[in-house]
Amino acid sequence: MSFVPVITIDGPSASGKGTVAQRVAAALGFHYLDSGALYRLTALAAERRGLRWRDELEVAQLAGDLDVVFDGAAVLLEGDNVTEAIRSETVGIGASIVAALPAVRSALLARQHAFAEVPGLVADGRDMGSVVFPDARLKVFLTASAEARAERRCKQLSAAGEQPDLAAITADLESRDERDRSRAVAPLQQWPDALLLDTTNMGIDEAVEQVLRWWKDVLSA
Ligand code: DC
Repeated sequence: MSFVPVITIDGPSASGKGTVAQRVAAALGFHYLDSGALYRLTALAAERRGLRWRDELEVAQLAGDLDVVFDGAAVLLEGDNVTEAIRSETVGIGASIVAALPAVRSALLARQHAFAEVPGLVADGRDMGSVVFPDARLKVFLTASAEARAERRCKQLSAAGEQPDLAAITADLESRDERDRSRAVAPLQQWPDALLLDTTNMGIDEAVEQVLRWWKDVLSA
């Protein structure tokens, strides 16, 4: 078991887990891992190389060799700033396709483990508490209703200059959730040792405070 304290926050798309995880990491002075970004980067890199997202071996090799730099909020792929490009809906769909391939998941495992450095790590994704950091000191499953998540995604996309269609976004979120939940490897699910945080009717501040309270409880246990 690693001596580096890890907090995992897993949950479905647009549940707010990324924002909560980043804020918790900042409050504690911990590192932050956005594992979804690695799947998004893999999908984008594959598209740029002309690979098909379902070509498991080629995509896995690409994932293992990804030339990625996380520089604060910016993400560089082979030196190119792709911070916004990886957030598009198309890349999100590609990410959920490549994430269902076992060889791609194992190719990204060591890269994710490398984020666990002192003084600690907050990692968000789908399998952070179940597969990547099973010894995490605190595991949270953060979710919200599909409607609330679709509305949040629309707001994010509008802020990024896109013109989202709520019905299409809802349908897309549901099919992506279904693919993430039903895949054979590392499916999205709430594990028995994860604490449930439903943010359907909760603001970000409240969610962050709850995770920090749980963390205090862990430290004082
Ligand atoms: O959290 P996100 O929307 O950026 O994730 C993009 C895709 O990657 C999503 O379809 C699920 C997948 N993913 C995964 O399978 N495992 C993770 N740990 C993180 C993301």
